[in-house]
Amino acid sequence: MVERSKRQMSLVGFMQAGNATVYAGSWRHPATEHGFLKASYYEKLARTLEEGCFDLMFFDDRLAMPGIYGGSVAEAVRTGARPVKLDLSIVLGVAAAVTSRIGLGATYSTTYYTPFHVARTFATLDHLSGGRAAWNVVTSVNDSEAQNYGMTEVLPHDARYNRADEFLEATVGLWDSWDDDALVLDRATPLFADPTKVHQLDHDGEWFKVRGPLTVPRCPQGRPVLLQAGSSGRGREFAARWAELIFTGDPGIDIARSHYKDQKEQIAARGRNPDTIKMLPMAYTVVGESKAHAEEREQLFLHDLVDPMASLTLLSELMNYDFSGLELDAPITDELIESVSGIRGLVQNIRTHIGGETVTLADLAGHRATLLQGPRFVGTGPDIADQMQEWFDGGACDGFVIAATHTPGAYEDVVRLVVPELQRRGVFRDRYTGTTLREHLGLERPASSRGA
Ligand SMILES: Cc1cc2nc3c(=O)[nH]c(=O)nc-3n(C[C@H](O)[C@H](O)[C@H](O)COP(=O)(O)O)c2cc1C
Repeated sequence: MVERSKRQMSLVGFMQAGNATVYAGSWRHPATEHGFLKASYYEKLARTLEEGCFDLMFFDDRLAMPGIYGGSVAEAVRTGARPVKLDLSIVLGVAAAVTSRIGLGATYSTTYYTPFHVARTFATLDHLSGGRAAWNVVTSVNDSEAQNYGMTEVLPHDARYNRADEFLEATVGLWDSWDDDALVLDRATPLFADPTKVHQLDHDGEWFKVRGPLTVPRCPQGRPVLLQAGSSGRGREFAARWAELIFTGDPGIDIARSHYKDQKEQIAARGRNPDTIKMLPMAYTVVGESKAHAEEREQLFLHDLVDPMASLTLLSELMNYDFSGLELDAPITDELIESVSGIRGLVQNIRTHIGGETVTLADLAGHRATLLQGPRFVGTGPDIADQMQEWFDGGACDGFVIAATHTPGAYEDVVRLVVPELQRRGVFRDRYTGTTLREHLGLERPASSRGA
């Protein structure tokens, strides 16, 4: 008998609308389907995750091909280090059409997009999906992206977050520019909508001027769910103010525990309820019918499919630093990390995790990852459920963002072998009880900021 009062895990699929998952070797995996340019591939992923009762499928995004390593995109194209990234609003439209419950999240940048565009895209998705939209708010980290949007280099780190704060203020204002009861649809009067309930925003700030109102009525969830993955001091402050679901990339349980505690304290200090804001580390799962089968698959993942040039290409993007000028045996020193402008925290954590001061560029390049790293769970369904529960019950997280070693097989394995075990233990739903993403996550529908 399933015990329903237990704390429930949240599960999110960490999706990529392109040729590779966050694991750059994924496109070379023998079981990977090369369907990334076909609607049917995304339909299959969406259906699979919904069958497994996942809370959300969320797509990451980058607005450029990796082009920092050696000042060229050649290595990204040659090694398949995510040179392909499709437009997410269309991919989510495809996923929405073949599902009815699973949440649908996309990454949009506050540095390159505008509040009106983002507010309109996600409000539309929320309506057409019946309340399932989520926005992963990112500030974007490197010059490759800046150069596709008419700039030469990325804005400084904290300025990006200042802009993001104002971006969110304007976007929330637009989502709330229609009162919930503004639509009347009275043919006889005629009164389409009550003009006293549709408001001009007239936002006039340091970064944006937005008149409004939005051309989309208030959406089923009130506002789409806000996802965020800031890990720096300023990033955590931003997440504490805005995020409703937080992604992390902490490699070990101790780092994850202290991140969890610190972020939840910051949320409480903002006057928000930390229990309703879930923190989910990304995690790879390598599942097998037996332990030996899983371990054999792990070797493929750890060694056989890792291309050091693909790793260096992606490392250069994440650190916003051209590593082509360094010898492979160059040590990754504190000074080196301090001198680059990309995601320092992630590389610091990985360096500690794989060997501290002695780590060289070759070690990082040989590492399996894109350096967006969480734990790796390996084994049979019950083994993996044990490892997940260690984190979940051990004060390190509220669930997981599952990254794929290959697609769609990695998710089919989780749904077939891990999810039933979590359900049997009563820590994960065996059916959806709500229809909106907010209902799956236990988040209230926010009242309008206008107090209407
Ligand atoms: C699971 C996860 C997913 C992320 N997805 C994206 C993404 O799609 N696009 C992006 O530009 N950054 C992405 N990031 C990076 C974060 O937005 C953020 O820049 C990073 O965690 C560093 O934090 P900071 O900006 O506070 O320094 C992701 C991070 C994590 C942990």
